[in-house]
Amino acid sequence: NRVDVGIVGGGPAGLMTALLLKRRGISAAVVERRSHGEIRRTQRAGILEAPTVDMLVEAEVGSRVLTDGHEHEGTVLSFDGVQHRIDFQELVGRSVWLYPQNEVFHDLATAWEREGGQIHWSVQEVGVHGVDSDQPSITFLDAQGQAGRIEADLIVGADGSRSMCRRLIPEDVRTDYFTTYPFAWFGILCDAPPTAPELIYANSEVGFALISQRNESVQRMYFQCDPETKPADWSDAAIFDHIQQVLGGPDAVNLKRGPIIEKTVLPFRSYVCDPMTFGRLVLAGDAGHTVPPTGAKGLNLAFSDVRALVPRVEEFLTGLRQAAEAEADAPASTAPLERYSRTTLDRVWKAQNFSYWATNLLHRQPGENEFAQRRRRGEFDAITGSVHGQAYFADSYTGWSAPSPN
Ligand code: DHB
Repeated sequence: NRVDVGIVGGGPAGLMTALLLKRRGISAAVVERRSHGEIRRTQRAGILEAPTVDMLVEAEVGSRVLTDGHEHEGTVLSFDGVQHRIDFQELVGRSVWLYPQNEVFHDLATAWEREGGQIHWSVQEVGVHGVDSDQPSITFLDAQGQAGRIEADLIVGADGSRSMCRRLIPEDVRTDYFTTYPFAWFGILCDAPPTAPELIYANSEVGFALISQRNESVQRMYFQCDPETKPADWSDAAIFDHIQQVLGGPDAVNLKRGPIIEKTVLPFRSYVCDPMTFGRLVLAGDAGHTVPPTGAKGLNLAFSDVRALVPRVEEFLTGLRQAAEAEADAPASTAPLERYSRTTLDRVWKAQNFSYWATNLLHRQPGENEFAQRRRRGEFDAITGSVHGQAYFADSYTGWSAPSPN
């Protein structure tokens, strides 16, 4: 079983890589530990930057994002119950789209399978071998327990935040940068219509809450909690009362309530792996970096990795073929892959900064004093009270200017 590129991880990063490589005539095979159903049922974020939507269109995965997704031309920031709308279109001429990540996954997986793309779901004991040789491979046990093997010229590690691929970058080559936060998010899904037309990111004396949406009848909301919180300890009424308290104040909105159909506690962490390549291995998406969810950057960052990666993979493979034809003795140059790592990390750090900054602007640190909350209020007013501050938020949130296509 030989392909050009072997991909570990069948989430959005891995599948988008597979599809865009195919569009350039490069073959790929994907292995994934989870089942299609399990990934589709896992709630993740729901905000897509415009270039992310463009990539779905470019990958020819169908137009559900355009028909079922909702364009949001702005968002609301709320502090102590005083609301400020950030008008993305007016400030930077761009929108974002609300379209849940599990639907993005489903569209990509459906397209890949419809086109006969090779994918092995529910695999176990995945091993990646020979990334420091010119014959890398992936071994695994398939869903029936049969041993499988994929030989390739290059391995893409798109295996998520607990990536095993990244551990193949030797410790004396790799630097892990990370920071932790003393809080987490309590996320719920509930059967209720939207509370407001746009998302509301809110801070108050009792911390952060985010009012998001899924569709006309299902809503997604989050609030800041202790990382040790047990979801079952919170009743539906206590959850809504708490979120209502965060929104309380002069512009208080009345939360639409309904039966809660899912409760989860989401960890918070910032992480970057540098470099994102070693030998015949490259990382894409959460395998190379994790951001806290506040800026809605995770999926968008994974896709911007893929956008930067695909042309560099093509360049690397072309170099490899030319070296083989010339019967050159020298090993194929991995320079295009190193260039990918450098350019994508520049964007990763911009997103790390925005996610960290927005997190600290909108959350309350446990045990902080009154100075901290008043200073935060000053920072908030400096952003919302100035067109330049608002434009900074809008530019970062909507994904900066469109990247150059290559
Ligand atoms: C959603 C999640 C986020 O982290 C965010 O910043 C915005 C929206 C969501 O799940 O809808």
